Amino acid sequence: MDEFERHGIGVVSGRDACARALRSPALTSDPGGGSPSALLRDGDGHTRVRAVLREIIAGLEPVPASVRASIEDVVAGLGTSFDLVHDFARPVAGVVTSAVLGVDLDDGFLDRLEATTANLDVLGGGDRAGQAAAFRLAVQLSRTPAGPGGLTALREAHAAGRLDEDELMINAVVLAHAAYENSLNFLACAGLELATSGPRTVRELVTAICPARYVVRFGPDGPVAISLADGLPFGLGRHACPGSGVAVAEGEIAVTALAKVLDGGCRVGEVRWKTHPIFHGLASAHVVVSEKQG
Ligand code: HEM
Repeated sequence: MDEFERHGIGVVSGRDACARALRSPALTSDPGGGSPSALLRDGDGHTRVRAVLREIIAGLEPVPASVRASIEDVVAGLGTSFDLVHDFARPVAGVVTSAVLGVDLDDGFLDRLEATTANLDVLGGGDRAGQAAAFRLAVQLSRTPAGPGGLTALREAHAAGRLDEDELMINAVVLAHAAYENSLNFLACAGLELATSGPRTVRELVTAICPARYVVRFGPDGPVAISLADGLPFGLGRHACPGSGVAVAEGEIAVTALAKVLDGGCRVGEVRWKTHPIFHGLASAHVVVSEKQG
């Protein structure tokens, strides 16, 4: 029995059925309780908050030269023995998340982002550690001085009456988590694919890896988990990922740079996977680059 069945959650699979479910007006992202998070609501409130998030993300399209350079610096600093999660995916996803928010992010912040579990409390009714981490991040961000970027844009949207106080607090964390978690998992898995099977395009990789395996929706018969593994890695419909262009561009920069590091061959040591029911990713994977011949 899988995690969903254990919690009485039905699963929708198969590309067509999933596409229909994601577009269905009968299924909502809102579990009830009036969350201000863009991810956990529908209707006018969702449209309004999503428009603000979308404007922020557009600031990274195309990816600014400074962000490209920072990603390439991370890969240039890898050396010949490194962990794909800790040394590659985490700092690259951190660079982009920091650029999205317009705030420097330290390791403690990234640790808390990884402990935050977005819309997962439907599995069992309360991920307290995840909720506590999200709350602490919201408070931390509310006190953080910000330069140009997403956090300042959220504050300006609040000042202009486009977001209320709760929406400002929560969606700063939603944006950070959305920009970070799936990219972290995608980049590490893409690095492993590169190390073990050779080059593929980022579009192919993201579809094959599908770092967000399911999204949860609520219908007349209770919650359902909709699979994204049949070719819908960025979802579909009202909540479809507004950061997919940034995610693909970030992946292209990072994967191209990593491919050069690995082009003389490498050895992959112990690989450990996360065990999350929704977010698919590596916990660690150690790579040793082969010495160049001649
Ligand atoms: C490989 C990387 C990524 C993957 C696979 C991914 C996947 C997804 C998926 C499947 C959703 C839909 C959730 C739902 O329907 O409930 C989503 C939502 C979202 N993503 Fe991404 N994402 C990625 C990277 C990013 C990045 C880099 C950003 C920001 C720059 C971002 C921002 C968002 C936001 C703000 C939402 C919420 C949209 C809404 O609820 O209307 N994502 N993402």
